[in-house]
Amino acid sequence: MSVPVLTIDGPSGAGKGTVSRAVAKIKGWHYLDSGSIYRALAIAAAAAKTDLQDVAAVTEVAENLQLTFVCGDELTVILDGRDITPQLGLESTGHAASIIAALPAVRRVLLQKQQDFRKPPGLVADGRDMGTVVFPDAVCKVFLTASAAKRAERRYKQLIEKGIDANLCQITHEIEERDRRDQERKAAPLAMAEDAYYIDSSTLPVGDVIAEVIKLIS
Ligand code: C5P
Repeated sequence: MSVPVLTIDGPSGAGKGTVSRAVAKIKGWHYLDSGSIYRALAIAAAAAKTDLQDVAAVTEVAENLQLTFVCGDELTVILDGRDITPQLGLESTGHAASIIAALPAVRRVLLQKQQDFRKPPGLVADGRDMGTVVFPDAVCKVFLTASAAKRAERRYKQLIEKGIDANLCQITHEIEERDRRDQERKAAPLAMAEDAYYIDSSTLPVGDVIAEVIKLIS
């Protein structure tokens, strides 16, 4: 029997990471944060001074990507022996990741790296195309979303709590821009799988979303 996978796809800031990590912990399953692979690739490409429009060069960086994930309460990501976790969450990293993620050749190289996370007893995979492309045979698929205004507000609060200066208008604009790029690209665009459950977390507390997903997978 194949290893069960739960996929949680949706736009940035919908709470996929928090929900996925919690569900993985409750079930004792592995966790794949596929966005962090695209983000790590953006950091590796910048370190190699690669032009993001140079498809062959970015693809080569993707082929040689040496990543280690350490799962604790938070995810720690090591690139070529260096802890890049602090850089991963930057808005500029997410922006560069979404440019790279539109390249079909890069997505082809990263496909197997993501599928390699599928190990017993199970996997929770979060991203944009987990249910549509990477794990189409997943046992349970969720599409988790929230309004752009709500997602921007959450991101704004997170930054302010960390003592980082933030502008709500600018964050809303960046979120809408990233949504547009992720939805309109030709290669594996952000889309809900036909057999996915739709959850709108705009007005739901995160605990309720986790409970709902646990109910679905059980
Ligand atoms: O989810 P996160 O914000 O970390 O993802 C960063 C970017 O990586 C996204 O905006 C998207 O362009 C890309 N991505 C993707 N496919 C995935 C996960 C992330 O294209 N499965």
